[in-house]
Amino acid sequence: MKKITYAIALVVVSAILWACTKDVDNNTEGRRLDMATLKVDYTDLINKAAFGGWNMPNTNNARVALGRALFYDNKLSLNNTVSCGSCHKQQFGFADNVAFSDGFKGVNAERNSQPINNITSFSGSLFWDGRADSLGQLVTMPISNHIEMGFEKIENLPAKLQVTDYYPQLFEEAYGTPDVSVQRIGTALRDFIFILTSRNTRFEELSGPAFANSGINIWSVPPTGLTGFERIGFDIFVGKGQCANCHSGNSLEGWDAANTGLELNYTDKGAGAIKPGMPEGSFRIPQLRNIAITAPYMHDGRFKTLEEVIDFYNDGVKPHKELDYRLRDGFGGGIFGPFEGDLLVGPNGQPIITDENGNPIATPPRRLNLTPLEKKSLKAFLETLTDYSFITEQRYSNPFRAN
Ligand code: HEC
Ligand code: HEC
Repeated sequence: MKKITYAIALVVVSAILWACTKDVDNNTEGRRLDMATLKVDYTDLINKAAFGGWNMPNTNNARVALGRALFYDNKLSLNNTVSCGSCHKQQFGFADNVAFSDGFKGVNAERNSQPINNITSFSGSLFWDGRADSLGQLVTMPISNHIEMGFEKIENLPAKLQVTDYYPQLFEEAYGTPDVSVQRIGTALRDFIFILTSRNTRFEELSGPAFANSGINIWSVPPTGLTGFERIGFDIFVGKGQCANCHSGNSLEGWDAANTGLELNYTDKGAGAIKPGMPEGSFRIPQLRNIAITAPYMHDGRFKTLEEVIDFYNDGVKPHKELDYRLRDGFGGGIFGPFEGDLLVGPNGQPIITDENGNPIATPPRRLNLTPLEKKSLKAFLETLTDYSFITEQRYSNPFRAN
């Protein structure tokens, strides 16, 4: 009896939830693919994404156009309500402005939607927990995800697209024959994502074209053009704040995952749940391009503003037992500063800080003691990383139009 009541309640609640979250604008019905918008020249974007030749996009206009249509097409979800673009919105740097985006049934995704930019053929460890090894592998995963788009039997998707009045033609132009297949869908989606290149920020503009045109490290170019607060903020980022110990390289990202002490006990264990030897609650060190427009922040979208993120790093890091050594007292002085602690490698390959006898010390979380002015400056620096040409580029936008 109880079970039945529960089941009925669940059905009612789900129905209400679904009805409330169903977004009319987002529904496929009443939208048409605008071919004039879609079939444009993408050559310069393809060349820009090639990073002078070392990135993969061995692609063409027709395949990118197809990928763009697929990215924005609600037909890729089981009930025609959600597209990739529903959770990855151009105006927010291809992230979403809510902590957990709605999936196809109005049930929320389990993590914060990540911004998409500058993913290359060499990008690995994608997703917050690094579980996808490459973009080619990743692109079809959201389609079959039971919360995001619901095509758990993804092999049924090609037949659905094959009977539309636009895909056979688009597949023919992209691949020579009109046949839709999962592999072809994946390749086209991958190629559209490859051309989402964001390298036109104020930081780059002020640092000169050398940086904008190549894959070199952001720190090797002196940011001479930054204004007072921005420059102070840059110095904190690479110095006193020690942010660049983790967020570095061309996109201010890390190559590994880290536990940042958001919790003492994580419910979402991140990479720790799927990769042997990774700390509980460790998440990929995210890139920070367009960070000022990709709120909310962290894998669960817990922080609504950059101020909250900065306050957290300043004095909110919790003493989780597997807290990353780079956020503990005694480690380092930033990449340009003096190193106070000894950096050694622990039993699991995890660098640790040791006392004078070589015994590991789990030092407490570091407190940065930033002044209000320093916090403001750090934020000002992060704001120089916004690429406005990226969020206004017409050829990245939704090619579907209301009838
Ligand atoms: C319901 C919302 C939702 C939809 C729909 C969705 N995504 Fe995502 N996307 C997310 C979330 C949430 C994450 C982070 C997932 C995680 O880490 O477990 C993510 C992560 C990604 C990433 C990883 C970026 C990185 O740097 O690691 C890419 C790329 C991506 N999605 C592409 C797509 C594509 C392509 C589609 C359509 C086929 C799509 N997404 C559909 C919510 C969504
Ligand atoms: C130990 C390495 C480490 C250090 C040091 C570090 N971060 Fe992070 N940062 C991370 C990781 C890992 C995440 C994601 C954590 C999560 O979601 O659980 C993150 C997330 C962020 C985010 C949110 C990104 C997003 O897309 O949601 C911002 C902003 C950020 N860090 C800025 C900073 C600043 C500013 C500093 C210096 C004060 C700093 N970080 C120091 C590893 C680090």
